[in-house]
Amino acid sequence: MAEVFKMSDKAGQAKGLPRHIAIIMDGNGRWATKRGLPRTAGHKAGAETFRRIATYCKNIGVQYLTVYAFSTENWKRSADEVGAIMGLLKKYLLEAVDTMEKDHIRLHFFGDMTPISPELRALAHETDEISAHLPEGDFQANVCLNYGGRDEILRAVREFSAQCAAGEKRPEDLDEALFSSYLDSRGIPDPELIIRPSGELRLSNFLLWQCAYSEFYFTDALWPDFDEAELDRAIASYQKRDRRFGGVKK
Ligand code: IPE
Ligand code: IPE
Ligand code: MG
Repeated sequence: MAEVFKMSDKAGQAKGLPRHIAIIMDGNGRWATKRGLPRTAGHKAGAETFRRIATYCKNIGVQYLTVYAFSTENWKRSADEVGAIMGLLKKYLLEAVDTMEKDHIRLHFFGDMTPISPELRALAHETDEISAHLPEGDFQANVCLNYGGRDEILRAVREFSAQCAAGEKRPEDLDEALFSSYLDSRGIPDPELIIRPSGELRLSNFLLWQCAYSEFYFTDALWPDFDEAELDRAIASYQKRDRRFGGVKK
C-alpha cells in the first residue's frame, strides 16, 4: 500500500485518509467521441471505472464513496443516451443484489427517485434492504441518481416546513445538524475530498450543502481513464492541504 495511506504521521487524522470521497464521474462522452465511438460506449466504460474505483476505495479503507451518476439536468440529453445510462444502472444493480452481501458493500442512493422507472426503483429498494442488514462500519457507496444539490435542499425545506405547518417542528429548532438530517446524506459525514475529472472546474449542482469545507481535486483525465494511481494522487494532494475551517493555524 502506498506511503500516503499511513495514518500514523504526526499530523494525525486530519492529514490521513479521507473517510468520505465524492467523485463527479465526468468525461464519458468525450472519451467515446475521441475514439470514434457512440457516447453510450463512454458510459459503459465509465461504469467499469466506477466498479474499479469503488473496490479500490474499499480496499484502502475509505468508508464512503459518493458518485455523481445522473444529475437533475441530465434529462436534457437524448432519450437514447438517458436510456443507455438507466440500462447500465439496471445491469449494475442486478449484479449488486447478488454480490454486495458477500463483498460487504453497502449501496445507497441520493436523489429524487420519483421519476425513475419502477423497475430501477424496486432494485434500489432491494439494495437498500440488503445494505440495512450489513454492519454500519462496512464500506458504503452512494450513487447520486436524478440528484441535484439545489433539489436536495428544496426537498429538505419542503419536508421541514410541512412538519412545521403540522405543528411537529418549530422554525427556531432548525440548526445545521437538524437541517442535515433532512438531506439525502443524513447520517453520513461531509466529504473531505471531492474529485472532478475531465478538466471541468465546476460543481454542476453536486453536494452544494455538504461541500462547505471539502477539499477539491481537479484532473484532466476523463472518467473512463481514471485509475487507482489517479486516486492516489488526489489523496496525496488532499493530505498536503492545510484545513483551517476558518480558524488560524497554531
Ligand atoms: C458523465 O460524462 C456522465 C453523465 C453526466 C451521465 P458525460 O456524459 O457528461 O461526458 P462528457 O462531459 O460529455 O464528456
Ligand atoms: C455532471 O456532469 C453530472 C454527472 C457527472 C452525473 P455534466 O457533464 O452533466 O455537467 P456539465 O454539463 O459539464 O456542467
Ligand atoms: Mg459531462
